[in-house]
Amino acid sequence: MIYFDNAATGGTKPDCVLDAVNSAIKVCANPGRSGHKLALSCANIVQECRNELDAFFGGYGYDRCIFTKNCTEALNIALLGVLETGDHVVTTCMEHNSVLRVLHELQNRGIITYDVCPLGNGGIDPCDILARIKNNTRAVVVTACSNVTGRMPDLNAIKKALPRQILLIVDGAQGAGHLPIHMQKMGIDALAIAGHKGVFGIQGSGALLFSDRIEPKPLVFGGTGSMSILLETPDFYPDKLEAGTLAFPAIFSLLEGIRYLKRKQTEIFKKLHTLSEYFLGGLQYLNAYEIYSAHNTAGIVAFRHKKQESEIIASRLSDEFGIAVRGGLHCAPLMHEALGTLDYGLVRVSFSHFNSFSEIDTLLNALSAIEKQG
Ligand code: ALA
Repeated sequence: MIYFDNAATGGTKPDCVLDAVNSAIKVCANPGRSGHKLALSCANIVQECRNELDAFFGGYGYDRCIFTKNCTEALNIALLGVLETGDHVVTTCMEHNSVLRVLHELQNRGIITYDVCPLGNGGIDPCDILARIKNNTRAVVVTACSNVTGRMPDLNAIKKALPRQILLIVDGAQGAGHLPIHMQKMGIDALAIAGHKGVFGIQGSGALLFSDRIEPKPLVFGGTGSMSILLETPDFYPDKLEAGTLAFPAIFSLLEGIRYLKRKQTEIFKKLHTLSEYFLGGLQYLNAYEIYSAHNTAGIVAFRHKKQESEIIASRLSDEFGIAVRGGLHCAPLMHEALGTLDYGLVRVSFSHFNSFSEIDTLLNALSAIEKQG
């Protein structure tokens, strides 16, 4: 199978990541729970991963980097754990349900209100965000990269437009590993990341990094391996937000994934940009399809057949040509509404730097065959 569904989850992992997972499963103790050598060596690896993530994303200290099972959990902590009664939030129509459903739920519970910034010229205009700011606006929540089209809002321009006191919370599910993100330099207060996409970890890895302007409250309570005599949850990070056994194999994979990314970042950005450009160059000559993306370093290209539902195109690519892409609605309903693609959805092709130009030729030939068959 040719795998072009890397925005859903990275299909190929670097060898160093596979080796880390293998060794973590073969010899595994519980980091932070016992004092024996094995547990300590696992705890050291967890600490190294915190340090790497903090350094890579320009965070606010390793203790303000907590591990989660995915980006959704990280976003839930950043929103449910931070927002308070009476707060107002501005978000954008580009967001994934991992943001929208949390805000919707908080609004339904009568805790917050929120407004959605529309799509302006395919992207997000900081002025449109600013126009929605109210006296009680506490945070702006924005994705670093649309999971539907690969479009990247200008986070620096958004930050610049915002009054200083407003928190900037960034969904890095698709952006992390695909654009440079330095939280301190960019004034980002919370960054949620998925470990299993652009940073090359495995599923079950995720993280939330946050600034000292927020003190997220825990959503989950339990053992932390620290202050065990107390019935209260420890009041310090990361322990406060990491009750229960950590996913050690996933965290070890993330450590090696980040190290791999650090070594190859320039090459990866360049390759994804070129692959998306190459694919778009061929797709534009197939008249049956409408294109919804420009080339980008996320390696995401969205398009649709003018007469067939995107889920059907995706199924045909899988069944008849052995090509894996995602079709339909991509958990971002307001983005599809803004693009006018709620009816047929979109076919989303998402590359990794492991993909080749000849694989893209195969995809273009398949799309051309579908075009001819109608
Ligand atoms: N959020 C992931 C996607 O866009 C799963 O496919």
